[in-house]
Amino acid sequence: MKPGLKDTLPKRLLPMLRNTQTTPFSIGMKLRMNLWEFVQATLFRWSPTRLRGFRRGLLRLFGAQIDDTASISRLAKIDCPWNLIMGAHASIGEHAWVYCLDRIVLGEYACIGQHARLLTGTHDYRELTFPLVTEPIIVCYGCWIAVGATVLPGVVVGAGTVVGAGAVVTSDLPENKVCAGNPCRIISDRFNMEA
Ligand SMILES: CC(C)(COP(=O)(O)OP(=O)(O)OC[C@H]1O[C@@H](n2cnc3c(N)ncnc32)[C@H](O)[C@@H]1OP(=O)(O)O)[C@@H](O)C(=O)NCCC(=O)NCCS
Repeated sequence: MKPGLKDTLPKRLLPMLRNTQTTPFSIGMKLRMNLWEFVQATLFRWSPTRLRGFRRGLLRLFGAQIDDTASISRLAKIDCPWNLIMGAHASIGEHAWVYCLDRIVLGEYACIGQHARLLTGTHDYRELTFPLVTEPIIVCYGCWIAVGATVLPGVVVGAGTVVGAGAVVTSDLPENKVCAGNPCRIISDRFNMEA
């Protein structure tokens, strides 16, 4: 007979088998999240592409701090906008997922490409109740996070750095580099600072 989960787990974890995943969010927070989801699925999503000011306004109503020149695609998915800060000319492209369970800061001219994912949340998989763990993400001045790249919780992308298509960024990246791959590694300098 094959051993069941109970036979293979360390004894200290057994009491947890009775518990399901717990949510760290208060009722007030859940209501706020649901209200924003509704607004995002309707007014935000249906807004004409060029109505950037309208989308900035909706995000600000929910606590985001966004410069007047920043741009957010109507097709982007933003969670918990009250944790989002965007500097001048920062942009978020189509189908990007900006998962702001913790603070996300996009510096001036930071460009988040289509289908990119900025994920501030993960789970402590060592516990069966899967507690939520969050860490902020900072994408500094002049960075480009290209198509389909993923940035994991706690990462700081240094000023001017490019993260190539499909990369998975697991740790901080220095300034002024071109980086790519999974895990994301430096492949070259971006600007020649000597010239
Ligand atoms: C990261 C990027 C900007 C690098 O461009 P580049 O400086 O011209 O790089 P190169 O094409 O000279 O490639 C240099 C090396 O990095 C590798 N590389 C480049 N991009 C890569 C990527 N996204 N993932 C993994 N490796 C990559 C190349 O295979 C090459 O490796 P090699 O030296 O072993 O042959 C580019 O590849 C990229 O990902 N662009 C994003 C495109 C995009 O998102 N477009 C949609 C919006 S317009």
